[in-house]
Parts: sequence; C-alpha cells; structure tokens
Amino acid sequence: NGNQLRTIASLANFISENPNAKLIFLVGAGISTACGIPDFRSPGTGLYDNLAKLNLPFAEAVFDIDFFKQDPQPFYTLAKELYPGNYEPSKFHHLMRLFQDKGRLHRVYTQNIDTLERSAGIHAENLVEAHGSFAHNHCIDCGIEYPHEHFKKAILHGSGKLARCTKCNGLIKPKIVFFGENLPSHFFSTWDDDLEIMNKDYIVIVAGTSLAVYPFASLPTEIPTSVKRALVNLQKVGDFKANPRKSDIVFSGPTELAAEELAKQLGWQEEFQELVEA
Ligand code: OAD
Repeated sequence: NGNQLRTIASLANFISENPNAKLIFLVGAGISTACGIPDFRSPGTGLYDNLAKLNLPFAEAVFDIDFFKQDPQPFYTLAKELYPGNYEPSKFHHLMRLFQDKGRLHRVYTQNIDTLERSAGIHAENLVEAHGSFAHNHCIDCGIEYPHEHFKKAILHGSGKLARCTKCNGLIKPKIVFFGENLPSHFFSTWDDDLEIMNKDYIVIVAGTSLAVYPFASLPTEIPTSVKRALVNLQKVGDFKANPRKSDIVFSGPTELAAEELAKQLGWQEEFQELVEA
C-alpha cells in the first residue's frame, strides 16, 4: 500500500542524498522464499512446520549436532532438498548485487545456506556466510576436510548410505552451523571490524529474518545509534520491535517487492531488470 511504498521512498532518499553511504545487509531465509525455498518459522509454509515427515523429536533437531550423531538421515533429506544448484537468486539478491556494481556495497551477512548470494555474484570479500554453507565439509570426529562432492554424492544417491571418513569412519558433514556449534570465527572478526568503521555514512538493511537465532539476532542491537537501520520483512521483528529507534525505516512487506521498488526509485530499473533477466 501507499504507506509502505513511502517507507521505500525514504530509504531511496537516504541512499541518494548520502552518495558516500555504504550498505551492510543482514539477511535470512525471507530473501529466498521467492526462489521457492521455504523459510524456517513461517506458520504453515516454514520448514519447521513441515518436518513431520522426517520423524523428528522436535523440529530444530534437523540442525542439532547431537541428534545428527544419532540419526543423520533427516538432515540428509533436508540437504537433498536445499542443495545448491536447484534454485535461482531472488530480486532481493539481485538488488544487493546491484549495490555492489554501484560501489555501494560494504558487506552482506547471511544466515542462509543456499549460497544464492554467490550465485547472484556477491564477491567473497563482501560476503559473510554466518551459518556456513555446503561448500566445505569435514569429519565431525577427526576434523579431516573432504571435497564437497563426497557428501553431495551420498545425499543425491539417496540409498541411505552415509558419507563417512575414510580414516576414522566418523560422519562427514558440511560446515553448516548446527545448534550446539560455533559460528565461524570470520563472522565475529568481520563484524568487529565493521562495527569499528560504521559511522553515519553507513546504512544497515535487515531483511527476511525473524531475528530468532543468536548470536546473529543481536547484530541489529549492536549497531551504533549514529548509523541508520532499516528492516524489510513481512513483520516487525527483533530489536526493531523490542527497541525501535526513531530513525529506523521499516518496510513491512515482501523483500522482492521492496527490491523492485527500491531499484525503481533509485533510477536503476534498467540495470536491475538486466540482472533479473540474465
Ligand atoms: P525464519 O524462518 O526464522 O524467518 C524468516 C522471516 O522472513 C520471517 O520473519 C518471515 O515472516 C519473513 N519472510 C518470509 N518470506 C518473506 C518475504 N518474501 N518477504 C519478506 N519477509 C519474508 O528464518 P531465519 O531468520 O533466516 O539455521 O532463521 C535463522 C536460522 O534459523 C536459519 O539460518 C536456520 C534456522 O535454524 C541454519 O540454517 C543453520
């Protein structure tokens, strides 16, 4: 509606009126639902409501390291579904890429493991995959690293055969951060560096996340008050709800609509369309 589009206009104004402003994105599953990948917590459509067929004791067990050691099969089923290569980036991914092309992207922090930021062409140095990805794999017992084909073959084969370490017979698992595991140290060090340099010339856009999983969920809270924050999400979430700041810009709607409108209002429609259609 008109009100919501006005919030995109104020975001576009801020970006155009501060030509030195650099963008930092903090994103989650809601930027990939338009690609056909379910998010986790949306009632009805989210993965955690649809894991019944995996026979889990509780929904988040699919990403629980202790549960994985007992029964890796549910994660195999999910991994087969989510394995990179099956999906194309969304309009929101393309918009982040366009900011990069314009020299305005500072960083993308993603909780997603679908690697669609890479598919959209976000450079490695601009990207922090906070919850890891399928790209790196290791034995959960002895730590030896394996090429990703090793695990991929086991899940795609679907014979129930598990990918196991040739040295110690431990389970091989992609370095996706499970509950009970630490986030990559690169996540913490990069965020610390970014906190140091963030000033009024930065704008942080939080998009498509319920801000339910820590430590990622605490990032918006840590943003200095001199730095502009924006939220693009179906609902108001996390610190935007608990501790709203007067200067926050909140768009309550689909990320793909926000991307399209923002590109339009910034006058980047043609380049945006080229990326979307490529
Ligand atoms: P959630 O499913 O918790 O939240 C997704 C958010 O995006 C919700 O607030 C939705 O309302 C919103 N949303 C969905 N589709 C949208 C759309 N088209 N436009 C705008 N908003 C939309 O997903 P995350 O916050 O990413 O861990 O979940 C965080 C972590 O929990 C995930 O990284 C995952 C999970 O356990 C791992 O994968 C290791």
